[in-house]
Amino acid sequence: MTLLNWGEYLTHPGEAALSKCRENCSNSFINQRNRIRDLYSALSPKNVVCIGSGYLNDIPIEDFVKAGSTIYLVDWVKDLSQLAYCKDVITECKGRYQCFICQTKYDPRQYCTNYQELDVSPKEHKQDVCSSFIKSNISPSLCENFEFGTNPVFIDMDATQGRADVFARRVSEMISRAKTPKAVFKNALREVGRLKQYSTCFPIDGQSVDFVTSSMVVSQFEFEPYGFMAKKMAQKFGTNEINRMEKILTPYMEKLRSILFPLLVEGHFEEMHRILQTDGRVYFSIETFHRPKDYDRWFWCKNLDRIMEIISKYFWFDFETLPELGNPDRMDILEGKSIVSSYVLVPKSRTDL
Ligand SMILES: C[S@@+](CC[C@H](N)C(=O)[O-])C[C@H]1O[C@@H](n2cnc3c(N)ncnc32)[C@H](O)[C@@H]1O
Repeated sequence: MTLLNWGEYLTHPGEAALSKCRENCSNSFINQRNRIRDLYSALSPKNVVCIGSGYLNDIPIEDFVKAGSTIYLVDWVKDLSQLAYCKDVITECKGRYQCFICQTKYDPRQYCTNYQELDVSPKEHKQDVCSSFIKSNISPSLCENFEFGTNPVFIDMDATQGRADVFARRVSEMISRAKTPKAVFKNALREVGRLKQYSTCFPIDGQSVDFVTSSMVVSQFEFEPYGFMAKKMAQKFGTNEINRMEKILTPYMEKLRSILFPLLVEGHFEEMHRILQTDGRVYFSIETFHRPKDYDRWFWCKNLDRIMEIISKYFWFDFETLPELGNPDRMDILEGKSIVSSYVLVPKSRTDL
């Protein structure tokens, strides 16, 4: 039997799944999207980095392109944001096609190398697209001639300075070699101690960015890469064996999480702090309460105090730029309901760290 590997685990689920996710989730993310849009328009940044950009449900990409910002979309699932972006570029309403690249303030060719100006007005043309537009029924974009330019920049990387990624790869090898589930945990606990020195940066210069979004990304650090670890262990040792040993394994798992989680969170905030200009801003949102599907009680999400402590090491909180962001947002997602808190963060001076 071939065991699962980390690269496969992070493979995006394909175009059909993307459309389904959009159908199911885009409404849930509307408030988050509006908040990011409001903050973006209050700040008018020249460049923006969206970490955990994923399906772009919460990213007002159209506004970023129209205003001509340099955009970096970061997600560790390869090609996911490229696919979502292709879907967003052109929309159709009652037979009229609209391409948001055609509405950018600056050179549209940075966003699509095939852009060609119209020789008639959009009114005469009866479409809001350029003269290269050819309707496509098969490519992910509605325009057959859409071709990526140099902007946005897509970065398929881990947002924890590579710590979650390297941990998952090493644990993956351990599982392949180990004779028992307990041996995996013992080795993983040794490995996690070495991660602190590990730090892989995004290909973005230090102190070069005006605006960063980290929307609902840290909420996932509680589940990844453990989800992968659990799946691969069940594959290798069998679900029955893992269940039989649950009592013995649970304390190991809890210890592992309690060490790994803050390392991942710290890597994330340290990297955002590194790339931000001194007067830059972060939009940060996180699930604070969760109500599982078919359950009528709310749970407080674990580790919030630890996260706030780590944020405070690198950032100040800004409740002035958009005071309404202080109010929590309620979201319905597939696995239940969430209360989400959003914050604007300002980097602390490097001499204060
Ligand atoms: C809950 S989603 C946020 C919403 C997302 N913008 C969307 O519209 O789908 C979190 C995103 O962060 C990504 N992510 C989670 N952990 C990550 C990590 N360590 N490094 C990079 N991306 C990560 C996931 O792949 C996912 O796309």
